[in-house]
Amino acid sequence: MKHLLKLSDLSGEEIIGILNLADQLKYEKKNGIEHKYLAGKSLGMIFEKSSTRTRVSFEVGMYELGGNPLFLSSSDLQIGRGEPVEDTARVLSRFLDGIMIRTFAQKEVEDLAKYGSIPVINGLTDYAHPCQVLADLLTIREHKNILKGLKLCFIGDGNNMANSLIVGCIKCGMKVAIACPDTNKPDADIMAWASENGDFVCTSDIESAVSGADVVYTDVWASMGQEAEAEERRKIFAGFQVNEEFMALANDGAMVLHCLPAHRGEEITAETFEKHADEIFDEAENRLHAQKAVLVKLMKD
Ligand code: CP
Ligand code: NVA
Repeated sequence: MKHLLKLSDLSGEEIIGILNLADQLKYEKKNGIEHKYLAGKSLGMIFEKSSTRTRVSFEVGMYELGGNPLFLSSSDLQIGRGEPVEDTARVLSRFLDGIMIRTFAQKEVEDLAKYGSIPVINGLTDYAHPCQVLADLLTIREHKNILKGLKLCFIGDGNNMANSLIVGCIKCGMKVAIACPDTNKPDADIMAWASENGDFVCTSDIESAVSGADVVYTDVWASMGQEAEAEERRKIFAGFQVNEEFMALANDGAMVLHCLPAHRGEEITAETFEKHADEIFDEAENRLHAQKAVLVKLMKD
């Protein structure tokens, strides 16, 4: 594993390997065991979109691993003034030991990896959010002790989260049901792969998708970059909400996860959110442990 650009580049064994290392790093942190595996290493973190969890967990994660994180806002970098990705990649490769980037186009992340000579980590694109799904899988495994055979139902927009959840869950032997409007399905390449490689369904029938689910997942109706469409999207996604009525159809003890930030009253009710707050905030914490595992896998000598 040279980069983390999207989960489809990884095997199921590699994903489980990251989760196992994340468990180890979490144990070491909780027990005060030093784990400065990246002493002397620097990570550049390029942000072309906002972030709370990704920024803070990568930054704190690098400190805890003994390394040095650099926050690089694209509005301050020359990349924001049109310096080509090919040149940025080659320059940053001379200074840094790794790059994390949050941006719009998946191609920009792939190009950084192509033209640079250091590991590149996708911190969210319009297409994928692999770091989040590693933390999600870690959280599900912590709560349920197993991944294989569990059913995850995602209700909402067929967006970057839906794309990455489909790939990550199926690679770990889970079943996936996506409930979304016919107009807003996950990317066609991912659905084609999922249909061939796993137990996968995409439907606008929320009741059938959520029936028998062990994990119910949702995300915002308007992602970053879609703010101008928010009003229209409220109409498109009305009803595609995680609430008590749908949770009654899921399995007993079903978890609710949300990558956050959440919009209560839209994709999830305040009631269901608060009932499952412990799971949702464990999930947020696990961004730290999962990301540290990715950093160690990619950057440790
Ligand atoms: N879930 C997530 O990636 O959160 P941020 O946008 O705050 O980084
Ligand atoms: N789909 C959301 C995820 C945020 C973590 C977005 O792209 O804004």
